[in-house]
Amino acid sequence: MSTSVYSRYRAAFAQALAGALGVPAADIEPQVKPADPAHGDLSFATFPLAKAQKKAPPAIAAQLAQALQVPGLEVKAVGPYVNARFLPLPFTQEVIDGVRLAGLAYGSDAEDGKGKTVVIDYSSPNIAKPIGFHHIRTTFLGHCIANLYRALGWRVEGINYLGDWGKQFGLVAVGFQEFGKEELREDMAHLVQVYVQANKRAGEDPAFDEKAREFFRRMEAGDTEAMKLWNQFRETSLKGFKRVYARMGIDFEHIEGESRYQGKMDAVIDQIAKKPGVKESQGAIIVDMPYADGEPPVLLKKNDGSTLYATRDLAAAEDRHARFNFDKSLYVVAQDQALHFRQVFRTLKEMGQPWADKCVHVPFGRIHGMSTRKGQVVELDQVLDEAKERVLQRVKENVAQGNLETTDAEALSEQIGLGAIVFGDLKHNRASDYTFDWDEVTSLEGHTGPYLQYAHARSANVLRKGGGVPTAYDPALLTLPEEQALVRELMRLPDTVKAAAEQYEPSLVARLLLDVAAAYSRYYTAGNKDRDKRILVEGNDAVRAARLALTDATRITLAAGLTLLGIPTPENM
Ligand code: ARG
Repeated sequence: MSTSVYSRYRAAFAQALAGALGVPAADIEPQVKPADPAHGDLSFATFPLAKAQKKAPPAIAAQLAQALQVPGLEVKAVGPYVNARFLPLPFTQEVIDGVRLAGLAYGSDAEDGKGKTVVIDYSSPNIAKPIGFHHIRTTFLGHCIANLYRALGWRVEGINYLGDWGKQFGLVAVGFQEFGKEELREDMAHLVQVYVQANKRAGEDPAFDEKAREFFRRMEAGDTEAMKLWNQFRETSLKGFKRVYARMGIDFEHIEGESRYQGKMDAVIDQIAKKPGVKESQGAIIVDMPYADGEPPVLLKKNDGSTLYATRDLAAAEDRHARFNFDKSLYVVAQDQALHFRQVFRTLKEMGQPWADKCVHVPFGRIHGMSTRKGQVVELDQVLDEAKERVLQRVKENVAQGNLETTDAEALSEQIGLGAIVFGDLKHNRASDYTFDWDEVTSLEGHTGPYLQYAHARSANVLRKGGGVPTAYDPALLTLPEEQALVRELMRLPDTVKAAAEQYEPSLVARLLLDVAAAYSRYYTAGNKDRDKRILVEGNDAVRAARLALTDATRITLAAGLTLLGIPTPENM
């Protein structure tokens, strides 16, 4: 088991405390918390012991601290707490060597999820419908969560579950006859326009709406003509989506969709009919189970016999379990769909599926105010285009002023633009809504992707200037407070990756990277005031080598973390 440096020390401290107290270490470990940095690294509060020992907590703490001997830790009582501080050695070396040995795999732990499988449903845009803000968030969040689980050794089955079935195809198909331009049949934006127009028309004109329904009914019946048209539309959209995914470096294990369950839904409905049962309600078929007051029932078939989103999700859940025998099945989908997933999972449970509890809706909040210069349509591709364009101006200025050397300003701007948008999203707690701001996300300062990419490039640059990464160094020379603080930030990545995966919360990694960058920046700028603190200090090769080793570990930590988030790491910017 590759445990983190931090958890090894915590375990050793807990073990020693447990020995002194005569209790199992497992009872103590959860009570060992990070200390107030002024007083140490680990802290154990003695309040809970006061009653049994009939002693004041500070006295208990003092006595325990006296009794403990833990290699690598300096143990001290501070009031009612027993605190432990990592001694500079071997701690500093363990962290730096651990990072450098792991390289880009730093933070990963292949043993953690060995033999386990997670299914992750993410991105899942709707074909021929406008792409919404929620597809942007699910794409970034899902991609990162997939990366986190892969890093932890899980088998990841990422599924892009396209919304490629339903009445919207009827709308596009009959809409196309009315408003379509034949020569734009393969133009995704045009299809979306047609959909928007047809949707509006259907709201005003029941006969038109009925035609669209009729078209979808033909699709569900497997009508060859209807399916041919559907397939064309699907291919056109998919081509557009694939280009955006390639741009973002996203690769799904499976791109499939709701249409996969065409013709397979009656089997699921039959199964539900056995347990818990189905019943008719206003001509429609619904799941027969208890509903809360005012809760809409789970619809399996409309009164015209067509199936619904829930019907397909039930079929899909069964299918995923049969195919992957998952330990977890995640649905990274907007908070708006919370009721839908609660109901789907509850239906599975009522059906007696023991794995229903392994299905998890991973919801997220809204983005406000995201629009591009071209208009209100929130197309991911357009958002990335605009980010690149905004960055490109700055990159060109910097090149002109001699502040930046790059042979390919376009490619670099694409990388920075992507970093801006992805980080601008992932730094927020998944559950919270946020307001998107172009200037904020693309800024080189503050809590942004470009700032982190810059911190990474700066560390790479220091290494280049310092003649590359040192092979041998003496960790005992890293005694500056700025250095010790930085090492402590680098230490956190492995545990943060675990917490982020467990909580489906990429923002934990995002925020850690900001802390790493800030600690490196304080270190770097300390050298501006005090020459002796310079990383590339003159006249002391041994100190310089040690500082370069720490810089190398910093660069690796930033690169590993950014890569997990799905953000490119240019070496120069
Ligand atoms: N296509 C749906 C939408 O855009 C999201 C699908 C999410 N996944 C699922 N299994 N329902 O809202």
